[in-house]
Amino acid sequence: MLFAVIPAGGSGTRLWPLSRAGNPKFLHPLTGSAASLLQATVERLAPLTAPERTLVVTGVSHAAAVARQLTGLPEENILVEPSPRDSCAAIGLAAMVIARRDSDAVMGSFAADHLIGDPDAYAATVRRAVDGAQQGLLMTVGITPTRPETGYGYLQCGGTIGAGPMRMVEEFKEKPGYDVAVSYVESGRYYWNAGMFVWRVDAFLAELARQRPQMHAGLTRIADAWDTPAREDVLGEIWPTLPKISVDYAVMEGAAAAGRVGTVPGDFGWNDVGDFHTLGDLLPADADGNVVVVGAAEEKPGVLLHDSSGLVVLPQSGRLVATLGLHDMIVVDTPDAVMICPRDRAQDVKKLVDRLKERG
Ligand code: GDD
Ligand code: MG
Repeated sequence: MLFAVIPAGGSGTRLWPLSRAGNPKFLHPLTGSAASLLQATVERLAPLTAPERTLVVTGVSHAAAVARQLTGLPEENILVEPSPRDSCAAIGLAAMVIARRDSDAVMGSFAADHLIGDPDAYAATVRRAVDGAQQGLLMTVGITPTRPETGYGYLQCGGTIGAGPMRMVEEFKEKPGYDVAVSYVESGRYYWNAGMFVWRVDAFLAELARQRPQMHAGLTRIADAWDTPAREDVLGEIWPTLPKISVDYAVMEGAAAAGRVGTVPGDFGWNDVGDFHTLGDLLPADADGNVVVVGAAEEKPGVLLHDSSGLVVLPQSGRLVATLGLHDMIVVDTPDAVMICPRDRAQDVKKLVDRLKERG
């Protein structure tokens, strides 16, 4: 049975001020129900594996919130990292811990912050990916691109594996520039990388050792100490020295160049909820096209939207949010910050975070 790993650590700067370093997007109920993105991720994996085989890797500052949200998971399955070192260290650590439990294991890594419209089709796709992984390939899930998004990885498809629909990946290009992304989408030969990976742990760790020997050596020392009293000391010594790099750049690009990556086409209403505009497109709107995303605020006086349309409103402070004659805007009200911008500037919200960092 599959081991499922959920790396949960990114902060999602395009969702500021909702998503913050201390309160990242995967903890928020952006699913149209009370479940957070993280809880929805775990629920979707239930048909594929057991809670004992589901691991979350998260930062020390989120561990308590993660444990509160995922009461069904054994405590030792929440792997706590002392500081964010991006996804390669997180996924690599989980792979090493799993390899010590079962050296023949197949593991999947599933991003914590996606919305999936069709969980059954999703489960069927993951099962296919497990077949590819059994053949020794590092498997990805490929999504047909609909725009030249520069925040994703791109998979160039090669020949089919067996009778298909699995394909070999000739090139894995993480976050290309805009012009390159346009040419990829126009060529019709590329998928988006869905941010889910399925592989035999030994195949992944062999690639990690080949391409990132320093990371592999550091993680080996940590994993060897994991179930001993030395865990915290070794983590404290080694973790800050690990390269800060995502698994896409660190392993997947090079593995594809070496002919070791495959992909399963996925069609299950995938969305990575990257920004408020996308979120507005995903959730149900009222007759005027307004989407109200209610959060976990204790008090919910709600919203008063008059002569307003096409809004995405997040009343997350407990205050009433009222708009008059406002159209195609995003309004986010949190206890300590309010953000208002046109819907077509949703991608630029991260610039506000950059400006705030400059200010210190
Ligand atoms: N534990 C931990 N620690 N998890 C992390 C860290 C970290 O330091 N950094 C990122 N993660 C987690 C995120 O929470 C998310 O679940 C996953 O790793 C992916 O990280 P993102 O930061 O969201 O990556 P991305 O969106 O830029 O790109 C990835 O996803 C795209 C699809 O959404 C790549 O895999 C792309 O190729 C892909 O297209
Ligand atoms: Mg992401």
